[in-house]
Amino acid sequence: MHPKLLQPTEKNIFKSAQNLISGRLVAFPTETVYGLGASATIESGVNRIYEVKGRPKDHPLIVHISDIAKLDIWAREIPDFAWDLANAYWPGPMTLILKGSDLAKDFVTGQQNTIGLRIPNNKIALTLLTEFENMGGVGIAAPSANRFGAVSPTSAVHVLEELGNHLGDTDIVLDGGDSEIGIESTIIDCISLAPKILRPGAITYDEIYSIVQINEQKPEIQSDIKFSGRFDSHYSPRAKVFLNVQPIPGDGYIAMNEIATPKDTVRLFSPKNIDEFAYGLYASLREGDALNLSRIVVITPTGIGIGIAINDRLKKASEK
Ligand code: TXA
Ligand code: MG
Repeated sequence: MHPKLLQPTEKNIFKSAQNLISGRLVAFPTETVYGLGASATIESGVNRIYEVKGRPKDHPLIVHISDIAKLDIWAREIPDFAWDLANAYWPGPMTLILKGSDLAKDFVTGQQNTIGLRIPNNKIALTLLTEFENMGGVGIAAPSANRFGAVSPTSAVHVLEELGNHLGDTDIVLDGGDSEIGIESTIIDCISLAPKILRPGAITYDEIYSIVQINEQKPEIQSDIKFSGRFDSHYSPRAKVFLNVQPIPGDGYIAMNEIATPKDTVRLFSPKNIDEFAYGLYASLREGDALNLSRIVVITPTGIGIGIAINDRLKKASEK
């Protein structure tokens, strides 16, 4: 039993939308990473996401929608600053956590009264969402399409490597090439009076604070909200990840282009700038696993812009 790998033709996207409507799974590309989607209102479909990922049931899923007009179908008491953020950065790599409406059932929210919502900026994802909504669907629940705790997939081949043995032959993987950004969305908690960043991403602190004018210091990345991205082993390849240490012979090595490769190490990635670092990071960690390396040393980039998100993921990947 293996999922179907389909090219994103009009016909195949239509077929994928039908799959979702009948409670089956579709893995699809987004600009951040690939998502494993099910109709967010079909309990059996959403339950399969948890089974296929091996993810604990109390970890909430992000619901993907096609346009801002759908925001108050899923959320209630939406603060003005959340509308402002949505208008500024959607479609885009940003997830808003809001109070859930009656539609936001426990099986999607992990029994919380909040809901995570996002409009992805990817043509295939948006076409799939529109087709799905035309058939009566209201939102696609989709976590990253990897096994729980593992590295997020940034290509259809990565999805098959992660989940191929766990998906069935009625499930679909849409092949949309490489994800343009390569790192998961910025998650912003919009429940309190001011926004809190729960997970950094391509929408940066400065971009958020240019929209929401508050006289507070940039917050630390912390919150009481249950949040699987805060678990110790996360975003982790099989190889052990070490940050900013002297490598030993045989180690994998990831660092900016200008940093020379230490003797007897396996250079996995040499990005020329931080955007390229984000784009290729997960593929390079996977490459280390494909080469059966037991250790990967990463020299972390400067923590500005998307560099903050890269450092966040690398710190988590190294904690195990
Ligand atoms: O870029 C992304 O966000 C990708 C693409 C597919 O959209 N999705 C993604 O989903 O990264 P996932 O499930 O792998 O990570 C979402 C994180 C999880 O750690 C989850 O706990 C948190 O968002 N989350 C979702 N809903 C939440 C909520 N209501 N309150 C707090 N955290 C929430
Ligand atoms: Mg994930």
